[in-house]
Amino acid sequence: MHALVPVIAERFRKQFPGKPVLVVSPGRVNLIGEHTDYNEGFVLPGATDKAVVFAVAPRADGLCHFVSRDFDQEFRCELGRFHRSPLRWPDYLQGVLDQFVKAGHRVGGVSCVFGGDVPIGAGMSSSAAIEGGLAFALNALFGLGLDSLALVKLAQRAENEFVGVRCGVMDQFINIHGRAKTLLKIDCRSLGHERVPFGREDLRVVVSDTLVRRELAASEYNIRRAQCEAGVNILRAHDPSVRSLRDATLDLLREHRAEFDPVILRRCEYVVRENIRVEEACAALARNDFAVFGGLMNLSHAGLRDDYEVSSAELDALVEAARRVPGVLGSRMMGAGFGGCTISLVEAGAVEEFEARVGRDYQAETGQAPKIHVVRIEQGTHAADPA
Ligand code: GLA
Repeated sequence: MHALVPVIAERFRKQFPGKPVLVVSPGRVNLIGEHTDYNEGFVLPGATDKAVVFAVAPRADGLCHFVSRDFDQEFRCELGRFHRSPLRWPDYLQGVLDQFVKAGHRVGGVSCVFGGDVPIGAGMSSSAAIEGGLAFALNALFGLGLDSLALVKLAQRAENEFVGVRCGVMDQFINIHGRAKTLLKIDCRSLGHERVPFGREDLRVVVSDTLVRRELAASEYNIRRAQCEAGVNILRAHDPSVRSLRDATLDLLREHRAEFDPVILRRCEYVVRENIRVEEACAALARNDFAVFGGLMNLSHAGLRDDYEVSSAELDALVEAARRVPGVLGSRMMGAGFGGCTISLVEAGAVEEFEARVGRDYQAETGQAPKIHVVRIEQGTHAADPA
């Protein structure tokens, strides 16, 4: 059980009457397949032991009263009369309720306390953990009987429409569907997925946080999406079967390169290559070939840095520091980019040296120590017992 379950349950009990449902909603790592989800491609994420914990109970007065333990802040609104908040975090919660109301699901007001240990805004999807956790809780509390894919889509739409980030489906999907010791290879077009066992005792997934947060991330994210769409429009004029970059090939891009702005061409080539890398990475995992797998992670980073241009000096510094440590199989930036975290695959015996050397080298270069987390791949959003 997540250590924060009793803490959040107790905080709820102090402030609200009634017995809440308790929900554990994890963050995620993504081993490979970055910026491919909104291009209907492939991703390979896992849910983590770092999670956001919720205590939620229904109210009779139609109010929604949210308490953030981590920010020590509260927010109230009337069900259906949602308004964006300068506090930011209430928008992820309101966005979810808004989607339930818009879809005609019979929900009422709620009292809700939440808090967690997913680093915030770091590329580990704290936002999807908040959205998925509340969606799961509402489904249980109001007996709505929605299936897991419906919850994923509601949570994603909350972020797209209320928060205003045109994110793909990866984060909400893995948040709901994650499995312990398992990565999911998600086909972001069909929304089918394959389970990829990932439980080697001699390897660790290490997330290193630059501690740099950039406002730029959301606007640049939406720009990357638009650039991919621009590329698709050029290709579709020649081949109507191209619906997204998922359908593009390097040959097709080369054939029509004269029509592309060079920046758009680089963005599109990156996406096509990254999709191929996800396939190759899954094949490598099936053969237990972690050397090849790690090499593909490294290539993914190079593409994100040079062609997709979503890395940053700090992310590059962390990746380079990681790769200097013997026993590191691969390292890359993770998530949307421009700040946040890297993910490294590290031999268990090398983790101590990783923490010491990467900490020291990053600090020497940037003047700040990174925050390093060893994460486990765990179950997706689930109900927890208070005991
Ligand atoms: C963010 C988005 C995801 C995905 C990644 C980049 O985490 O929420 O949908 O696009 O960036 O791979």
